Amino acid sequence: MADLPAREALATEICGIPLDGPVLNGSGTFDVLAARQVFGDVLIDEFPFDCYVSKTITMNPRPGNPPYRLWETPSGMINSIGLPGPGLDGFVNRDLRLLASLEVPLIVSVMADCIEDFVVLVERVAAEDAVDGIELNVSCPNVHSGLIVGEQPAETEALLKALRPLTAKPLIVKLTPNVANPHEVAMGAEAGGADAVSMINTVKAAAIDPQTSRPWLGAGAGGLSGPAVRPIALAQVRAVSAAIEIPIIGMGGITDAESALEFILAGARVIAVGTENFRDPKAGTAVTEGLPAALARRGFGSLAEAQAVTLA
Ligand code: FUM
Repeated sequence: MADLPAREALATEICGIPLDGPVLNGSGTFDVLAARQVFGDVLIDEFPFDCYVSKTITMNPRPGNPPYRLWETPSGMINSIGLPGPGLDGFVNRDLRLLASLEVPLIVSVMADCIEDFVVLVERVAAEDAVDGIELNVSCPNVHSGLIVGEQPAETEALLKALRPLTAKPLIVKLTPNVANPHEVAMGAEAGGADAVSMINTVKAAAIDPQTSRPWLGAGAGGLSGPAVRPIALAQVRAVSAAIEIPIIGMGGITDAESALEFILAGARVIAVGTENFRDPKAGTAVTEGLPAALARRGFGSLAEAQAVTLA
C-alpha cells in the first residue's frame, strides 16, 4: 500500500474551476436552504462538497409532480419530483444570495423546453458573478418538456451551438442514460462547444402500488438512482470517456470513497454524490475523508495519479 496521500493531494479542477477535491453533489440531491433550516449552519460551515451544483432552475415557477414522488427499491430509489422550483426570478433574487455565500464554486443547473428559453436562462445566470459554471439539464425523465435534445446528438449539438456564444463560463451537459448510445450524445455536446458532460441522470423506472395495483408514482413513472444504477453508470462513463476529450463529472450510486474512485478509474475527472445525500447529508464529507486511504490501497499517491490512469 502506498503512503496515505495528504488532503492537498485531492486538489483538482473541472473546466478550469479549481477545486480542493473531486466531490460535487448531484443536482437536486442536497438543498442548501433546507439544510440550513434543519441543521443550522453546521452543514454549511463544514460543507460536504468541493463544488455545489444547484437544483435545476426553470424559466417559470413549477409546483413539481403530483404525489407520490418517491419509491424505495432494493439498493435504490425512484423519484418523480418534477423540478419544483421558484423559477428564474425567484432563484436569482432570493436563492442565489445564499448560494453565493458558500465557500465553494457554484454551478447552476438549468432546464428549458425550447432553445429560446435556454438562451434566456443561460444569459441571465451566466451574468451573475457568483456563478462559476452552468449545467444544462437535458435529461430529466420527470418533465414532459417536448424537448428531446438530450436524446439526440444533432439536437444536443445545435443547443450548444446556440448557447456557446453567450458566455465564456463553462457549459456542462447532463447526459441521460436512457439512450442506446450515450457517447453519441456526448460527442454532439463536445462538437457544439460543451466544456464537460455530467452523467448519469436517473434511469427511467416505475413501481406498482401493492394495495391498489396501480402505478405508485403520481406521474406514473420516474427515475431510478442509487447503488442499483452504479454498474450502468460505470459502463456509460467508460464508453463516453473513450469517445470524447472534454472531462466527465461521474455519478450514479456513489456511496463512499471506493465507489467514487471506481468512477475516476472509469474515466471521470471528478464525481458527484447524489441519492446517498438523502440517507446521510454528510456523505460528501465521508467520501472525501475516505479517498486518501482508497487511493493508497490501489497504489496511488494522489488523485491526479488515479485520473491519469484513464488517460493512458
Ligand atoms: O426534479 C426532478 O424530477 C429532477 C429530475 C432530474 O433532472 O433527473
